Amino acid sequence: MELIGERAGNNISFWERSAQNFCSAPVKENLRADVCVVGAGIAGMTTGYLLACAGRDVVIVDDGPVGGGMTGRTTAHLVNALDDRFYEIEKMLGKDTARLAAQSHTQAIDRIDEIVREENIQCDFERVDGYLFAPPGASAKTIEEEYDAALRAGLREVQKLPGPPIIQHVDGPALRFPRQAQFHPLKYLNGLASAVARRDGRIFTGSRIVSIKGGESVRLETREGYNITARAAVVATNSPINDRYVIHTKQAPYASYVVTFRVGRDVIPHALFWDTAQTAEEEKKLLGPIPYHYVRLAPDGEDDLLIVGGEDHKTAQAFDFEKRFTHLEEWARRHSSAVGQLVDRLCGQVMEPVDALAYIGADPTGDENVYVVTGDSGNGMTHGTIAGILLADLITGRENTWMRIYDPKRKTLKPIVIADYAKENANVVAQLRDYLTSGDVSQANEIKAGEGALIRDGASKLAVYRDESGTLHRFSAVCPHLKCIVRWNATEKTWDCPCHGSRFDCLGHMVNGPASADLEPIF
Ligand code: FES
Repeated sequence: MELIGERAGNNISFWERSAQNFCSAPVKENLRADVCVVGAGIAGMTTGYLLACAGRDVVIVDDGPVGGGMTGRTTAHLVNALDDRFYEIEKMLGKDTARLAAQSHTQAIDRIDEIVREENIQCDFERVDGYLFAPPGASAKTIEEEYDAALRAGLREVQKLPGPPIIQHVDGPALRFPRQAQFHPLKYLNGLASAVARRDGRIFTGSRIVSIKGGESVRLETREGYNITARAAVVATNSPINDRYVIHTKQAPYASYVVTFRVGRDVIPHALFWDTAQTAEEEKKLLGPIPYHYVRLAPDGEDDLLIVGGEDHKTAQAFDFEKRFTHLEEWARRHSSAVGQLVDRLCGQVMEPVDALAYIGADPTGDENVYVVTGDSGNGMTHGTIAGILLADLITGRENTWMRIYDPKRKTLKPIVIADYAKENANVVAQLRDYLTSGDVSQANEIKAGEGALIRDGASKLAVYRDESGTLHRFSAVCPHLKCIVRWNATEKTWDCPCHGSRFDCLGHMVNGPASADLEPIF
């Protein structure tokens, strides 16, 4: 991975190997626009597209290609069956919020459906059913509770079934959520990019924004020193690069693993599947902490791919990558006899808000005319589309009833949320112990080609990578965001920060915020 911002990890995702990279020129002059969108993932591209449709002069800037961040590493489930469960959202935020959350995700899927048809985007979009089921040995209580809560949230078509179809060796009940959907996220984003360009929107890739200052006119600056002046700016960088503290105390980064397998075309009917492991207190009591799983299919050449994800953990706080991939493979083979050759393995990152819903709206630090979107909560495709709809409405002065529930300034005083907030922030403080511990190795000659490791250097720690030709690359291991110590991710060959999820490629280039600078090289 030698190209800056090309993708957010060393492993190429199934989407990245089956779609063109949409790249354009970097910013090479000072620019003016109605709106500058920073970040060309699903949230940034949808916001830019809807604003261009509303007649706004839009500039979109990203340091990598369109979709080169986490949108290129999602499994792209388009759902109103939310990962955090409606009964949990009710407990944290109330029934009215659960209803608006269900409505907004339903409308996000519908909007994607409309855009695909109106813009004639060839992205394998299809409506599918989704099935939520209890893992083997778990009680039916979670499924029962979620069924009742989904009905209360307005999802009147959800059905209770004795078990999910297709997934073998599951004995518990399941819920069927109709009219979910799936697509190829990069083909969709490439279609949006073309649609933006047809409306005279300007997309710049290979340019990193390093400063955003709000005001009547928002002023943004690229790393090369060019200015962009706009009436509004949208920070859609997965984790906001403009806010150092506020939002990062309210969400936590989690790594999630994905494996794909060949299965014959149409051997398994296309559908989405999720088990309730780990998200359900009842299962935790019965079975101990067990990882949850999410599953879909996608066309790939002559075959279909079965895409299985899960095994999540806090970013940079577990290093047993091989074991986690093996667990996913064993789980897939146990639950489907159609699983064939293993094709892809990769690791992505999810931002988990403390109260389950994304943060979308005016910048919580009060920076005038600056808007943010973050906290995908494992439903990034729909949360990103909701962001596009909501932010386009806010910027063009239209009313939107979702504004309250997604407000980045919201405070939730329910004990269940306060406990999660305290736990996640205590976890961040605990990472500071890395200043006192020894390195992974004591000398650089212990580092193999293609690997990285931390080395103690007096009072400091160095992040050292040996490239395939044997050359050593040394960096300060101090994350430029808030100075936690990064750790080596051997499967994606990145330096990952355990505090708020900044990630850097093996050569120290930032590939995921909230940091907006690279690791400092040490010569
Ligand atoms: Fe915040 Fe590294 S991401 S300190």
